[in-house]
Parts: sequence; structure tokens; C-alpha cells
Amino acid sequence: MDRIRIGGGRILTGAIPISGAKNAALPLMIASLLTRETLTLHNVPRLSDVRLLMRILGNHGIDAAISGKRIGQSEESGETITLCARDIVDTTAPYELVSRMRASFWVIAPLLARMGEARVSLPGGCAIGTRPVDLLLMALEKLGVEIEIDGGYAVARAPKGLIGGEIDFPKVTVGGTHVALMAAVMAKGETTIINAAREPEIVDLAECLTKMGAKIEGAGTERIVIEGVPRLDGAHHHVLPDRIETGTYAMAVAMTGGDVLLEGARRDLLDSALAALEGTGAHIAQEEAGLRIKRNGGGILPVDITTEPFPGFPTDLQAQFMALMTRAEGNSRIHETIFENRFMHVQELARLGAKISLDGDVAVVEGRRKLKGAQVMATDLRASVSLVIAGLAAQGETVVNRVYHLDRGFEALEKKLARCGADIERLSGEK
Ligand code: UD1
Repeated sequence: MDRIRIGGGRILTGAIPISGAKNAALPLMIASLLTRETLTLHNVPRLSDVRLLMRILGNHGIDAAISGKRIGQSEESGETITLCARDIVDTTAPYELVSRMRASFWVIAPLLARMGEARVSLPGGCAIGTRPVDLLLMALEKLGVEIEIDGGYAVARAPKGLIGGEIDFPKVTVGGTHVALMAAVMAKGETTIINAAREPEIVDLAECLTKMGAKIEGAGTERIVIEGVPRLDGAHHHVLPDRIETGTYAMAVAMTGGDVLLEGARRDLLDSALAALEGTGAHIAQEEAGLRIKRNGGGILPVDITTEPFPGFPTDLQAQFMALMTRAEGNSRIHETIFENRFMHVQELARLGAKISLDGDVAVVEGRRKLKGAQVMATDLRASVSLVIAGLAAQGETVVNRVYHLDRGFEALEKKLARCGADIERLSGEK
């Protein structure tokens, strides 16, 4: 199993190319099930989750191909993948595959839209809270789907086809909104989604579906109206930049000090997180080539945050911000409102010398701590990268174990940081 070794104490200077967003690429790939034609996605990040989803889609009969390198592309340019679901040969998504990646449950919507039936394993427990799918199933039922739970599978049928309806989410859900959109685009008549998620990845999916011929209004607001169409065509779509990767590197620079250009990054995708970072004393400027983040000399100021659905502070940057706050010149309060149990990184940060007390969904981080390198364990995707950020500022050597969590969501993490002067390397295949 690979590990990552970090020698702390270096400042970061240079440029980091920001990859396409994992959380947009996954639903976009799933949307290819909606058409017999080819969907071509550009700027797809090289991540293990993307590879796994290609396998899952292959199981339903999709032909997937990764295009070779083109003139002017570097190893950091995103990939172009083509997906063609001419014939769907299998409407079952088995436990072995779905249990490895929650988002693959979302195939249920296009399978129903194309085939009128789907049998998809329930994703099961997850390290960051219960993460149920009740709201996803509720959305489908509103569109005329009959669902039974049988042997750990959601067995869904739309005997009369999908029929437009009103879906009112009692809680904002990204996955629920993706599923509702993908089910509604080919349903008969009009569908209204109320209290929809407003995340940029929802807008990206809606834009791609629109290029494929869907009729969608209001994506990016809390009310989306979809007029069903009988069929969708192929399209070309460029995946938007990853706002979580952007925020992660911005926090790394705020932690170590320095000056880094995050190439291709867009401020409008993560305004609230950047505002919090500015509160800590970092300087952020949008330039034509991307976002520049600087912190010189001065200390890190403490800032309280509360995670919220977009446009609020994203839960996927909470762990990274907590790492930063361990070095602040005072105490800060971090309130997690999206996922229960999303504080597993607290124990590992403590191994580096952080002092954080937990009270339900609030963490109080004691600042002014000197961090000291240690062996730590990655527990989930975002938690593990918070350990990398802490390691960059710790004295001595930090080794992050179980880095396969990082490979699910961060492309070439150690290379990108090393380019900016970090002392970081991957130790391959060692224990
Ligand atoms: C997506 C993101 C994930 C991010 C999360 C919140 C992807 C691939 N993943 O996950 O990185 O952390 O949004 O921004 O895009 N809920 C229910 N019932 C449901 C569905 C959700 O109660 O049927 C709850 C969840 O437990 C959670 C909240 O709703 O408390 C939000 O979850 P949701 O937005 O659905 O997260 P995901 O789509 O799984």
C-alpha cells in the first residue's frame, strides 16, 4: 500500500494546475446512460473513482474509451473520455461495485429512464455518517417509479414509463438533485424540483444534459423545472474545475505561507471558503490564468465556520480548514451541519499535536499549536488531505498511510505540491 512522506516547514511558491471536478465528472459519466449516442467528456481528472465508474458503466454495456495524448497536452491536462451506451445489456448494479463508490447508486435514474427498470444495490454504511438514499428513492417515486427493497437492493420499475411530477426535497441533497434531474429529462411532461441543491456540479450536469437536448430551467437555483423530451443525443462537454481541489491547495498555501497560482481555478465556485481564508489573513486574487493565493510573514488569524449547502462553506473543505486552524493565533469553532461523524480527522490531527475538542457537531480548535511530524492514517478522502496540509507545517517528518483514499479524489497530489517546493514524495508499495 502506498504512503506519502512529507518533510514539513517549506513555503509553497509556483503554480498548480487545477483538475476537472470529480464530483461533476461522476454524474456526467452516469448521464451517458441516457443516450444511444456518444457523450464525449473533456478535462476528466485521472482518479481511481473515475476508473471504477468506467468499470461500473461497462457492466451496463457502455463502451468507454480514453483518448490518447494530443499536441500541446501535458501529463497534467485532463483526459478526454468517450462513453457510448448504444444498448444497455444489464440493469443491475451489483453490491461489489456500488459498495465501493456511493455515487454509482445514481445509475438508477438513467437506467429507469432508458429501460423502465433498475436493480441497484443500496450503498450501505459509510465512514462519514449514515448517508441514506431515502430522498433519492422518494424523488423517483414522485415520477411514477415503484420501488421495493429486496435483499439489499433497490428494485425499481416504471411500468408506464417515467411521468413528470413535483419533487419537494425536505433537505438539500446533491445526489438527490442529480437523480431527480436525470430521471426527469426524459419523463413524460413537466417536473419541478423544489429545494434543489445549487452546487456548481448540478449546473454542470444540467448544462451537459441541455447540450444533449434536455429542456431544463433554473439549475443553480432552488427551483428547477424540466420539460421531458422523448430522447437525448450525444454531446461534447468540458468538466468544470474542481472547487474542492482549489480550496485544498489554497488552504495549504495559507498554512505554509508563499505565493501560488491555482491555474484554471474560479473564485465564483468557492466564494465562501475563500472569504473564510481571507479572514485568516491570506490574500486571494482572481487573475486571467486562475486564482493567486498568497500569505506572507504574518500569522494565521482564527475564523469560525459552519458548513452548509452551496453557496455556504463546503463540508468537503471542513477537514482542511481545521488543519489550518490548528496553527491560528487563537481558538476557532467549526460547526459541521451536513454530515454527522465527519470529524474522524480530529484524532489523527491530534497525533501531530493538534488540540481539538468535540461537542456534538461542533469542534473547538485550539490554535497556536506547534505541530510535530508523526505516522498518521488516512480515513476518508477529505480527511486524509487535511493530514497532508498539517504535515506541510509540522516539524520533521509526517507519513500518511492508506493514501488510496487520496487517489480517489486528488490527481497527482504529491507532484503538484512538490512542483511548488514542498518536500513530499510517494513511497510506493511499502508497508
Ligand atoms: C455529495 C458529494 C460529497 C459532498 C456532499 C455534500 C458527490 C459525488 N459527492 O454527496 O462530496 O460531501 O454532496 O456536499 O458529489 N441525505 C439523506 N437522504 C438521502 C440523501 C442524502 O438524508 O437520500 C442527507 C445526507 O445524509 C447528508 C445530506 O443529506 O446529511 C446531504 O447529502 P448529499 O448532498 O446527498 O450528499 P451526496 O450527494 O452523497
